[in-house]
Amino acid sequence: MKPIIFSGMQATGVPSLGNYVGAVKNWVELQKDYSCLFCVVDMHSITIRHDPAEFRKKCRELLTLYIAMGLNPQEHIVYFQSHVPAHAELAWILNCFTYMGELSRMTQFKDKSKKNEDNINAGLFTYPVLQAADILLFNTKLVPIGDDQKQHLELCRDIAVRFNKIYGDIFVVPDAYIPPVGAKIKSLQEPTKKMSKSETANLNNVIHLLDPPDVIIKKFKRAVTDSLNKIEYNPEEQPGVSNLLTIYACATNQTMQQCLAEFANTTSYGNFKLKVGGAVVAMLEPLQKRYHELIADTAYIDEIIANNAERANQLAQTTLTKVKNAIGFMPKSQ
Ligand code: TYM
Repeated sequence: MKPIIFSGMQATGVPSLGNYVGAVKNWVELQKDYSCLFCVVDMHSITIRHDPAEFRKKCRELLTLYIAMGLNPQEHIVYFQSHVPAHAELAWILNCFTYMGELSRMTQFKDKSKKNEDNINAGLFTYPVLQAADILLFNTKLVPIGDDQKQHLELCRDIAVRFNKIYGDIFVVPDAYIPPVGAKIKSLQEPTKKMSKSETANLNNVIHLLDPPDVIIKKFKRAVTDSLNKIEYNPEEQPGVSNLLTIYACATNQTMQQCLAEFANTTSYGNFKLKVGGAVVAMLEPLQKRYHELIADTAYIDEIIANNAERANQLAQTTLTKVKNAIGFMPKSQ
């Protein structure tokens, strides 16, 4: 049996280049060596308010995009979190093994509370516990994520170890997989900040995976650089240029050394930005084409949704039953 991978993404906005490079691109590659579950974490997404029809559409689009990006729903499991009630059941149990102090220290909770001052709901606070439940439900060994999810993964490990200390070896304690390059893609206009798919203030900050090629090129042309006129990897002094180099390395599957060698004689930032934009277009075009084909194939996607949820439900029951027994819940009579 192959070791297990679990990862997920929220259905808030069209995924960004950061989501792809920091997470999904690695999910695709890891599929050959692991048994994987890739989840659209729609229950996490409702910590922010949505229009129901729009939300449903976004969830379906994200699952379709997962497949277009290369996730394989036949060999692995691609599904909606809300279709597997065990996520919520285990999350409640784990809530009772997580401390308020721990949750108060989560930087994403602090950031999101600042951004949504009129809706700091309890779900936003216990969000990382549901994330821990997602992971621990499936005996996950590896969790491929971007840099911003590191703290949530550490909390998940702490909860698992704490639970195991009391009840014996119930949970597998998972490791994070954080890619060496691309774990934190920055905004194109403010390259000291993370590129975020939920960006609304300035769309030039973010490349959305379904942006048409001319839009992508335009956004790269406008990307902020500096006045140093040299192409070097130095995130402190040249955050914009370094971010573009990182994007180029990921889009062309090259090492940073190879990219630096390629641009050694380039003095114009204009040409450099065009090359990065072109490489991103080339990387995204095949998945965009596949997405537009798939989204039209309603029957095929419906069949995947039903069949994959069924398989995830079956797997989830094994751990959930073990947990319930360990805690001392009364078994159902036969
Ligand atoms: P989310 O939806 O914010 O992001 C999905 C994945 O994309 C990564 N990511 C980035 N990587 C590099 N550069 C960026 N600018 C960038 N922006 C986002 C994220 O690190 C993440 O890996 N809480 C999670 C979803 C989740 C989850 C889970 C993940 C719920 N349950 C269990 C792993 C395991 C989230 O909000 O990701």
